Parts: sequence; C-alpha cells; structure tokens
Amino acid sequence: MKRVFAFAVTAALGLSNLTSASLHSEKGHASFSTWGGHGKKVNCCSALSRVLGGKVVFPDSAAYEESIASYWSAQEEAVSPNCVVLPENAEDVAMAVATLRHSRGHVRDHDGCQFAIRSGGHTPWAGAANIEDGVTIDLSNFNRVEVSSDRSTVIIGPGSSWREVYDVVVPQGLATGGGRVANVGVGGLVLGGGVSFFSPRKGFVCDGVKRFEVVLASGRIVNATQDSHHDLWLALKGGSNNFGVVTAIEQEVFEQGDLWGGSVGFDESTFEQQFAAFEAFTGNPDYDPYASLIHSRIYNFTTKTWFTIAQFEYTKPEAYPPIFENFTSLPTTFSTTRISNLRDFTEELAVSNPPGQRRMFVTSTYSNSAEMLKQIFLMANETVRQMEDVSGLIFILSSQPEPTIIQKASAEAGGNSLGLTVEDGPLFNFQWTLTWDDAEDDERVEQQVRDAYDQAERRARELGVQQKFIYLNYAAKWQDPIGGYGEEVVKRLQHVSRKYDPTGVFQKQVPGGFKLFD
Ligand SMILES: Cc1cc2nc3c(=O)[nH]c(=O)nc-3n(C[C@H](O)[C@H](O)[C@H](O)COP(=O)(O)OP(=O)(O)OC[C@H]3O[C@@H](n4cnc5c(N)ncnc54)[C@H](O)[C@@H]3O)c2cc1C
Ligand SMILES: *[C@@H]1O[C@H](CO)[C@@H](O)[C@H](O)[C@H]1NC(C)=O
Ligand SMILES: *[C@@H]1O[C@H](CO)[C@@H](O)[C@H](O)[C@H]1NC(C)=O
Ligand SMILES: *[C@@H]1O[C@H](CO)[C@@H](O)[C@H](O)[C@H]1NC(C)=O
Ligand SMILES: *[C@@H]1O[C@H](CO)[C@@H](O)[C@H](O)[C@H]1NC(C)=O
Repeated sequence: MKRVFAFAVTAALGLSNLTSASLHSEKGHASFSTWGGHGKKVNCCSALSRVLGGKVVFPDSAAYEESIASYWSAQEEAVSPNCVVLPENAEDVAMAVATLRHSRGHVRDHDGCQFAIRSGGHTPWAGAANIEDGVTIDLSNFNRVEVSSDRSTVIIGPGSSWREVYDVVVPQGLATGGGRVANVGVGGLVLGGGVSFFSPRKGFVCDGVKRFEVVLASGRIVNATQDSHHDLWLALKGGSNNFGVVTAIEQEVFEQGDLWGGSVGFDESTFEQQFAAFEAFTGNPDYDPYASLIHSRIYNFTTKTWFTIAQFEYTKPEAYPPIFENFTSLPTTFSTTRISNLRDFTEELAVSNPPGQRRMFVTSTYSNSAEMLKQIFLMANETVRQMEDVSGLIFILSSQPEPTIIQKASAEAGGNSLGLTVEDGPLFNFQWTLTWDDAEDDERVEQQVRDAYDQAERRARELGVQQKFIYLNYAAKWQDPIGGYGEEVVKRLQHVSRKYDPTGVFQKQVPGGFKLFD
C-alpha cells in the first residue's frame, strides 16, 4: 500500500524526485522546500483529484452542495472552498494530507495548499472547519460506530454525530461521554475537551479516549494511546486540529440505564434565588456526581422580560434528587422532567438547536459566584435592550457548573491538556449564544456582545473571580482558548507540534480553528 500511495502522490504532482521514503519520513521534507521555487504553481484541487478521483468534489455538484449545506451555522455555510475532499478511510486522508503538503497553493503565496478539517461542522464561526478558496477535508464518511466485543470501548468515526453514537450504544445498555445535543459532531467536540452529562463522574469527554488514530503531517498513520505516542494522546485531549487529522476515536463505554432529567422553566421573579441555588450547587462539598445542570436565561422580546430554562440531568433513574432541591423548590412555569434514556434527552435538546441560522458563541470561565452571575445578567440586560431591532434575535446566557469533581475525574483518567486542576476550585462556564436573521446585522451583534463580554471581564477582575480557562468549543474566533490552558501546557503542546509536524503543516496550512503559535 505504501508504494501505491507514494506513487499516486508522485504522479499527481508530477514530481520525479519524490520517493516513498521521503514521503513517509517525518523529517524528510527539507528537499521539498525548494520544490515550489520553479514558479510552476500546482492547483491544489486538481492535484487531489488525480490521486483521489471522485472523492474530490467541486462547486455545483450535488455532493459539494450537500457538504457545504450541512454546517450548523449560516456563516460557516457561506464559506466556499475550491473543492471538498470526501475521504473514505485513513489512507485517503493520508494521501490528501501528503498531496496538500507538497503542492504549492495557487491561493495566496503560501508554501503548500491551505485546507480545513471538518467533522460535524458545528463550530459557529466562519473558517473554523471550512475555508474560502481552499480545500475542505470533510470527514462525514467516517461515521462508523462499533462497540468492542468485551463491551469496554466504542470505536467512533469522528464524522459521526452523537445521535449516531447513542443509536448504537444505548440499545446495548451502554453509554459514553459525549454531546448533550444529538446533532453535534464527534471530532471537534472530543478534540476540544467535551462536556457531557457524565462529566462529574467521568471528566471531560476527551478523558474517556483510549486511542486516537491520527494522520500526521507526513502522511503517516499512527495510534496515540496512553502507552504509545503518549505525548500526542495527551496533546489531542484539548489540542483540537493542531497535530493531525483524527480518523478514529476509541472511547470508554460503561453500563448505563435510564436517567432522570429534562427542561424546567422559571420566570425572572426568582433570578436571585436561582443564582444562589447555582452557587450552592456548584460549590457543594458533597457534590452528587450523577447530577449536571445547564442554566440558561433567555430574553423575551415580546414581554421584555427574561426567563430561565434549566436543563437538569441525573444519570440514575431517580426523580427529583435532593441535590437540585434549591431549584426545584422554586415556582416553575413548565417542566419536561421524566425518566428516559440518554438518546431521548439529547433529541430533546436538538429540537431547540436547529441548523442554518446566524449564530455566535462567546465564552468565559469564572470562579463560582452568585454575585458574578447577577452582575453579568444586569449588564446583558442593558445590552439586549439596545438590540431590540435586530431581526430574529435570540439572546441566551448559559451557565454550567464545573465542580472540582470534574478535574478530579480527569486526573484519574490520565489527564488532558486543558490546564485545569482541582486547586482552581469550583468554577462555572459562562456562554453567550446569539442567533439572528440578517447578515447586515453581523457586525453590530458581534460588537455589542463583545463589548458586553469585555465589561463582564472587567467586573470579574473587580470581584476576583476571573479565570484563565476559555472553553475552546464555545470560543469566538477572536478568543484564545489555547493560551488559556496556561504557559506550561502551551509549551508542551508546541513541543509536541514540533515533534510530529516539524514544518508546521497544521499551523500554517490549516489556518482555521485555534493555533498554538502566535
Ligand atoms: C447545538 C450545539 C450543541 C453543543 N453541545 C455541546 C455539548 O453538549 N458539550 C460540549 O462540550 N460542546 C457542545 N457544543 C460545542 C461543540 O463541542 C463544538 O461546536 C464542536 O466544535 C463540535 O464538533 P464538530 O465536529 O461538529 O465541529 P467542527 O466544526 O467540524 O470542528 C471543530 C474544530 O475541530 C477541528 N476538527 C474537527 N474534526 C477534526 C478531526 N477529526 N481531526 C482534527 N481536527 C478536527 C476542526 O478543524 C475545527 O477547527 C455544542 C455545539 C452546538 C452547536
Ligand atoms: C491502530 O489500532 C487499531 C486497533 O487496535 C488497529 O486495527 C490498527 O491497525 C492500528 N493502526 C496502526 C497504524 O497501528
Ligand atoms: C414571549 O412571550 C410571549 C407572550 O407571553 C409568548 O407568546 C412567546 O412564546 C414568548 N417567546 C419566547 C421566545 O418564549
Ligand atoms: C441549598 O441552599 C442552601 C443555602 O444557600 C445551602 O446551604 C444548601 O447547601 C443548598 N442545598 C443544596 C443541596 O445545594
Ligand atoms: C432590565 O433593564 C430594564 C430597562 O433598563 C429595566 O427596566 C429592568 O428593571 C432591568 N431588569 C433588572 C432585573 O434589573
């Protein structure tokens, strides 16, 4: 296979001096640095077509249109690559990466073609997993989900949605850490950390990964596990698209029956009590590891008031567990709580997160504090009233507890690259989610939210609750989540990058996502 592979790449590029050995050596690229100097520019997409044939699709074809139309946000859907590669196996990906690495892009004057890596396509900002005038590697054919015969792991194609994962594991009485919304993609979520209903028991989703199959910059395919390429395994747990293209994820599964949970509505009259309940819940020294919560406040532009939708989840079939009692004792406006299976709860959340709309996420992390929750709410309340004329605006503030028990579970599972420790104390994630109709409002929405966010950061400093961690999977394009992992982790990640990708293919040729070097 190696020979066929090298031959095909050589043929596609018309490179007579390219040998199989140099293609497969992680250090053998020096000879190519002069290669592009002939002045002859290779069209990235035609080079790919020559090696991958019909797996490379072009604008106006049904396959291209389908790929581009399947991003979650309207902004990411509006990005038009010159072609989309639809690989079917890791060898195809290896061929694509090697071809892109050695071809001199005709777009901009970079050495090598510019490309994007896409799994579920759920990052809202344009260019995270798609690329204007470049090549998008769409992993949607990587949707195999297979439970191991000993029922200890599940091998997941990164292009799967979590729906496809739960469809396989739930009927077998199993579960795995994963997205809480059925339609979200696997690849991006796992590589950015991943928060699941099981996080207090199992840590971040990435903490459950036993093996990543990765295509490196050289085109070589490796398995990164606790025992083999340990540094890469650790780096991928939070390191996103900086080290290679992940083509399979083998993750822990565990026995899991039904859960209790659902959405519960509260009105604005009890916000102060809700903030107090949130703080007590997050900081509870006897935090019940079966419990998790997403507490979202939403503005109603008709009534000009706010309301809460709290998503309670308890990963045992026990209704109204006492840990939620400070919330559940308050008057509610509706409730969908029930005992049901994991799949059902993630489908409930998919209904309220449909694709195709203009979207923005911004996030921060703060020390556990009811006062901070209240302060951001008061600021957001001012902001939202200046935005009443934005067509179709949906304005949501979500808070998610990050009790120290999550960091403890991460450490027990072998650690990750997020840079969080038990010593950080109980934290909470804060997320601004904006949805609106018209592109002409993009700039204004983004600026107003950014101003409100900056104001919240200043207030956090005043209150002494500021934290460096920025959750990558919720971060806006202009945020620096990798920097938020802390200097020590960043240095380690940079070292791993130099080792596995010495010419910086995933730094320079994959501009989307969050990068390791400034
Ligand atoms: C409706 C909705 C619900 C969500 N729910 C949750 C939740 O419950 N928990 C949670 O933690 N997060 C959640 N998120 C955030 C989610 O984790 C991110 O949006 C994540 O990026 C989605 O993964 P994806 O594969 O769909 O993303 P993509 O946009 O395809 O990729 C994200 C980034 O990862 C890189 N990447 C993707 N796949 C690979 C790969 N195989 N190899 C190398 N790099 C790759 C891409 O290049 C890109 O930069 C949710 C998001 C949405 C929109
Ligand atoms: C990676 O591991 C899987 C499962 O053990 C195995 O089938 C595959 O051949 C391995 N790949 C490499 C490149 O070692
Ligand atoms: C806002 O309130 C009105 C009037 O009570 C209601 O009809 C509408 O559904 C609410 N909108 C949202 C987004 O909840
Ligand atoms: C409920 O709130 C009170 C007062 O803040 C607190 O002492 C108690 O621990 C909370 N209970 C739970 C289960 O969080
Ligand atoms: C939100 O802002 C409006 C308009 O400024 C104000 O009337 C209202 O009291 C504010 N709500 C809270 C809880 O402060």
